[in-house]
Amino acid sequence: MNINANPEDARLTSGKNISYWTDSVQHAVQHPLSENIETEVVIVGGGLAGLSVAYCLSQTGMKVVVVEDGDIGSGETGRTTAHLVTCLDDRYYHLEKVFGKEKTQLIAESHQLAIEFVQRTVRKEKIDCRFECLDGYLFLHPSDNKDSLEREYLAAIAAGVRVVTVDEVPGLLHKQKALRFMAQAQFHPLQYLQGLCKAITENGGKVYTGTHATDIDHEGITTSDGFTVKAKHIVVATNSPVNNRFTMFEKEYAYRTYVIGALVKKDILPKALWWDTGDFESNPKVPPYHYVRLHPYNDQYDMLISGGEDHPTGDTSKTEIAEEDRYRLVEAWTRKNFPIEEVVYHWSGQILEPMDGIAFIGRNPYDRDNVYIVTGDSGNGMTHCSFAGLLITDLINGRENKWEELYSPSRFTLKESAPAFKHLINDSLSLLKEMLTFNGSEELSTVAIGEGKIMSLQNDPFGVYRDVTGGLNIVSAKCTHLKCGVKWNADELSWDCPCHGSRFTYEGKVINGPANFDLDAYHYDEINNQVTKI
Ligand SMILES: Cc1cc2nc3c(=O)[nH]c(=O)nc-3n(C[C@H](O)[C@H](O)[C@H](O)COP(=O)(O)OP(=O)(O)OC[C@H]3O[C@@H](n4cnc5c(N)ncnc54)[C@H](O)[C@@H]3O)c2cc1C
Ligand code: FES
Repeated sequence: MNINANPEDARLTSGKNISYWTDSVQHAVQHPLSENIETEVVIVGGGLAGLSVAYCLSQTGMKVVVVEDGDIGSGETGRTTAHLVTCLDDRYYHLEKVFGKEKTQLIAESHQLAIEFVQRTVRKEKIDCRFECLDGYLFLHPSDNKDSLEREYLAAIAAGVRVVTVDEVPGLLHKQKALRFMAQAQFHPLQYLQGLCKAITENGGKVYTGTHATDIDHEGITTSDGFTVKAKHIVVATNSPVNNRFTMFEKEYAYRTYVIGALVKKDILPKALWWDTGDFESNPKVPPYHYVRLHPYNDQYDMLISGGEDHPTGDTSKTEIAEEDRYRLVEAWTRKNFPIEEVVYHWSGQILEPMDGIAFIGRNPYDRDNVYIVTGDSGNGMTHCSFAGLLITDLINGRENKWEELYSPSRFTLKESAPAFKHLINDSLSLLKEMLTFNGSEELSTVAIGEGKIMSLQNDPFGVYRDVTGGLNIVSAKCTHLKCGVKWNADELSWDCPCHGSRFTYEGKVINGPANFDLDAYHYDEINNQVTKI
């Protein structure tokens, strides 16, 4: 059970809380790169995107090397809920408005292909990851327009998706109309990654964990231990691309999202996926929605895994509900809708919402043609990342792919991006102002055990956290991406940047991009009442 796991385990994942997935697999000993090597393709990031790309390339006979700075799946893939869907979280009626009917059909087809690809791979590589096909039910959130299900139905049908309307949702405590999306899927994401890893190495690929890529360019990468991987092609699959400091953060926005795992008596719920259409009162632009699935737990119970209550990373000001209080809301909503008993897991994670609804998969903008990224995959990262394996493999092998332009990271759908871009600039300016006007010096002794605070010490902003041993952990409060001020996240014990979603442990180690460097850490000299850089 994960609740209040040892923060030391943050090595395994991107925060204090340990997900059920991380808790239920064996962790391999880390295998860092310890020499200079050459290969055809180097892939940075050992999540679903990186390993899907590596697997597909290795299938075509290419020599691949994966470098991952934590463990396999220690990023967002270890924190997902792993629905594989054609019921997309940016509604088809929205996608049709942005991209038109024809491209929306292509979008739907790509997610369908991704599900089929995962199914094929599971069979071919004999991966024991509880992959199963099942139906999913989308029902109306009370704050959403009454006609939104009807609109979604028509747009999904026009996009070629297998969907019907139903008067009742199996498993839900209340009778409610819904859309039933056929042939969705689910799996255990980390067991799937372990299967991919095994296949990659059997195909001659190499996977290095505990290996942080500090410098990344068109010739390859250099690690924090000073070793290099020279390569003909470079794929950056770090969720938020750490090699792209200035373009992509304008096109995607980071959100935190919250998950509980609650017990339900075995076999009382049908196997299905469930979603509501999202809370338009809390955020009309990106309405946070609830997402639910089942997973076997023990002989008596299944576990209902239920998530939602998203908010922009580092910013809970709209609702004034702090990160650590969000599980309560997820639990209350879940109890209202499903017959759950005890909550045995909770964790949070990060979602990158693309400006126009679909991921960015392809060549890195303003870079050489041999550098690729995968990012912005919203709540549909399982299919987006799997599809990235197919698309990037075609691009690297010089094969035509009809999705290349659609998913291109260089696209800029102006109508969709302009308001969001304005919002980003405003946010960054107000954060900068907030930081510049912070000048009251405070006593370090006021920081209680378990508390994190931004403090002005020697006229500079610092993040100060007092850990369970009473020790002070002091880091610079200026994000290493573009210097915005970080905020304390008492749920995951991390410093989160509200500008573009970079995150750091309380010791300053970077755990989410676009930042790729740690916060400077400081030592407090009690006698001279001074902080000095470690
Ligand atoms: C709570 C939650 C629920 C979700 N539910 C769903 C769902 O039901 N269905 C769905 O389709 N999607 C879902 N998603 C989204 C999906 O999980 C993600 O989009 C997907 O897992 C992202 O995979 P990735 O490989 O891009 O990133 P990650 O899994 O984060 O992998 C990136 C890896 O790069 C590594 N890395 C970063 N920087 C470096 C560096 N410099 N050097 C070396 N390694 C580095 C990180 O350690 C990390 O392991 C959910 C996400 C969350 C958080
Ligand atoms: S993430 Fe961009 S400034 Fe922090």
